[in-house]
Amino acid sequence: MKTRTIRDLSVAELHGKRALVRVDFNVPVDAGGLVTDDTRIVAALPTINLLLDAGARVVLLAHFGRPTGAPEAKYSLAPVAERLRALLKRPVQFLTNTIGATAVAASNALPFGSTLLLENTRFLAGEETNDDALAQALAALGDLYVNDAFGAAHRAHASTAGVAHYLKPAVAGLLMEKELAYLGNALATPTRPFLAILGGSKISGKIDVVEALLPKVDQLLIGGAMACTFFRAMGFETGTSLVEPDRLDMAKDLLSRAGEKLVLPSDAMVAAKMDCGDAFHVVSRDGIPSDEAMFDIGPVTSEKYAQLIATAQTVLWNGPMGVFEKPPFDRGTIRVAHAMASATDRGAITIVGGGDSAAAVANAKLEARMSHVSTGGGASLEFLEGKALPGVTALDTI
Ligand code: 3PG
Repeated sequence: MKTRTIRDLSVAELHGKRALVRVDFNVPVDAGGLVTDDTRIVAALPTINLLLDAGARVVLLAHFGRPTGAPEAKYSLAPVAERLRALLKRPVQFLTNTIGATAVAASNALPFGSTLLLENTRFLAGEETNDDALAQALAALGDLYVNDAFGAAHRAHASTAGVAHYLKPAVAGLLMEKELAYLGNALATPTRPFLAILGGSKISGKIDVVEALLPKVDQLLIGGAMACTFFRAMGFETGTSLVEPDRLDMAKDLLSRAGEKLVLPSDAMVAAKMDCGDAFHVVSRDGIPSDEAMFDIGPVTSEKYAQLIATAQTVLWNGPMGVFEKPPFDRGTIRVAHAMASATDRGAITIVGGGDSAAAVANAKLEARMSHVSTGGGASLEFLEGKALPGVTALDTI
């Protein structure tokens, strides 16, 4: 059983039809209203173009930020409409209504070859509660439903899940299809050796991923401050590093079960504070001074991780190795990113989970040298945890 996609629809199912497409346009916008990273908008273009080329008329739904069920000027999608217009190079209308008679009339009046972006779905009270009446009101905006918002697929909202029950066919877009294929194949049929690298600050946010990945991977490399909770569980001094005391038992249990599969850093970059100038140094993992904190994996660990990546055939990475926004604590993350790029060059499948690791790869300008960089942060984590994504399960299967 596979999720039905727009590529499974016939010409007759698309031509002249209003395709109601849920996209993830939750992008950073600066104080001047300028989109500062349009990765997610660019990633939605193939679906929009395929639909327009097939003669469909495209009605876009998207959320932006976290307004609380009512309009707020700073969360308007107007700046996104402008960027979309520039990228798509085809007409894009923007409407401040999201549902109701005006929005339905605009969708019906939409000329062939054009796109209509409706205002932020989170301005509507029933969006996040997946309200039935709202789902039906959204369904009135299209003749078919396409979900291309992988980044929001872990949300059971009216525009990501509810609407799919009232508007058929309900299919995945090309981005959604690609995300599910890369992440799904890595979990189900990885070419081995299969290596996962997990980083980030907290073990609590990643524990379900660690549990889900351990049986599937050949090795699981740990970086980031979450390593410190493991260090403490091993009885090491962790100084002022971020440690989650309430997760120590969990870490001990994992260490005893995982055996050789779980690889922890052997050295660390430490300093008294994050903004430390040149006052940082490298210590072995059992030598973290009591008044200093670990802010990155050390050089020996970076090299070891790079070597392990060099021998893997599938590499899945989620979460930075250190405080990558603050050099020199970006070194471990950059080393991993480059090792992954080289792995891609020699034919390995390399997948970067969204969020911080995707940002780090973008900073290093290595996106094009990864097999796949996910557009979903929370969504990719939940997928890797083995959870069903409501935005996907609501779609038709074949
Ligand atoms: C994201 O940015 O991760 C997605 O757009 C989901 O946004 P949310 O966490 O506000 O639901």
